[in-house]
Amino acid sequence: MPALVLIGAQWGDEGKGKATDQLGGQVDFVVKFNGGNNAGHTVVIGDETYALHLLPSGILSPGCTPVIANGVVIDLGVLFQEIDGLEGRGIDTSRLVVSADAHVIASYNRVLDKVTERFLGSRKIGTTGRGIGPTYADKMNRVGIRVQDLFDEKILRAKVEGALELKNQVLVKVYNRKAVTVDSVVEDLLSYVDRLRPMVADTGLLLAKGLDDGKTVLLEGGQATLLDVDHGTYPFVTSSNATSGGACTGSGIPPNRIDKVIAVIKAYTTRVGEGPFPTELLDEDGERLRANGHEYGTTTGRPRRCGWYDAVIARYATRVNGVTDFVLTKLDVLTGWDKIPVCVAYEVEGKRFDEMPMTQTDFHHATPVYEYFDGWTEDIRAARSFEDLPKNAQFYIRALEEMSGAPFSSVGVGPDREQTLELRPLV
Ligand code: IMP
Repeated sequence: MPALVLIGAQWGDEGKGKATDQLGGQVDFVVKFNGGNNAGHTVVIGDETYALHLLPSGILSPGCTPVIANGVVIDLGVLFQEIDGLEGRGIDTSRLVVSADAHVIASYNRVLDKVTERFLGSRKIGTTGRGIGPTYADKMNRVGIRVQDLFDEKILRAKVEGALELKNQVLVKVYNRKAVTVDSVVEDLLSYVDRLRPMVADTGLLLAKGLDDGKTVLLEGGQATLLDVDHGTYPFVTSSNATSGGACTGSGIPPNRIDKVIAVIKAYTTRVGEGPFPTELLDEDGERLRANGHEYGTTTGRPRRCGWYDAVIARYATRVNGVTDFVLTKLDVLTGWDKIPVCVAYEVEGKRFDEMPMTQTDFHHATPVYEYFDGWTEDIRAARSFEDLPKNAQFYIRALEEMSGAPFSSVGVGPDREQTLELRPLV
């Protein structure tokens, strides 16, 4: 089983960390291919909880090589903070490999992320404020700073000077902020270079060789399908490709080497930040989902917006990503409801949509068409097989599977590694 892609099917926070961690024991490389420290993976192992923002969750699996590939944007301060945090808890991080082509988040991009959001006012995106968007914008504008630039001070300085020429005008004249000095940026970036150097490699080549040698590579997507800059709810999206296509461009692994696309999907839906969300619940049910599911952002601590399962989104995720397997998570959160609504289609101005509407305007105005399923009251957290589940929970899973366009391979009934029911083998 050479290359597997693992992505989020909804708006993020589906529980990818747990899924990756589960697979991590069976794979040789876990690769982060997009995003940066806007992500948040919570992995629970025994009594220990690990919150990772930038490092691939494979870092917790002994024997697995974690890779930060070219498609990622790296905040070097955060990288070493996370490394030090894990080392302090006895986790060996020495296997980490970082792409020479990945872009680094410079201090001015963190500043720009925050001031731009403030400037947008009611039109804000609700970003994580980590400088992700401005760094990807620099990449596309060809004024970005890459990891390899840190190895040549002259080149680094010239690039920072080039980038700051325009940015300082914007910071001072548009946003009324202080100009950033070239020296401060160069000094900051160079302060990491000695620790960074031994980790840096041509990760595309490393992974290609690994695949040639029969190794298994897991490509782990940050954020999720509906936050993808091309296929998500633009402009309320992140700035990278979080869908399976991004796994190829973000790692250098070609599409014909990918064998499986695993999508992680929650038994309900959540979203952080602004933007349309048809099944959002602004009532007691929403509060209850948030409380039961501990739905607060790993990165920013913001309360997540909560709503029912949306099968239109699931089908869309299947189509856009080529999903071969779904991993359903957090089913236990739904315990105790009498009836569980599932969105099977949308209605926009009297017209039914079984697929995602073509325009953002229609999606903004979409109201869910619900089907109602009987709930269960039994505590399902101790279930270890599908047959252990109450009949209504089994029926709910099979109904979602039928509507979502791809088979369900596993079901999560709690945060622990063991609280997972395998329906069919993933690897
Ligand atoms: P950015 O990625 O910081 O630019 O934020 C853009 C949008 O993506 C905002 O709505 C964020 O809340 C959302 N976002 C970014 N990363 C994550 C994540 O890991 N989980 C959920 N939402 C995210």
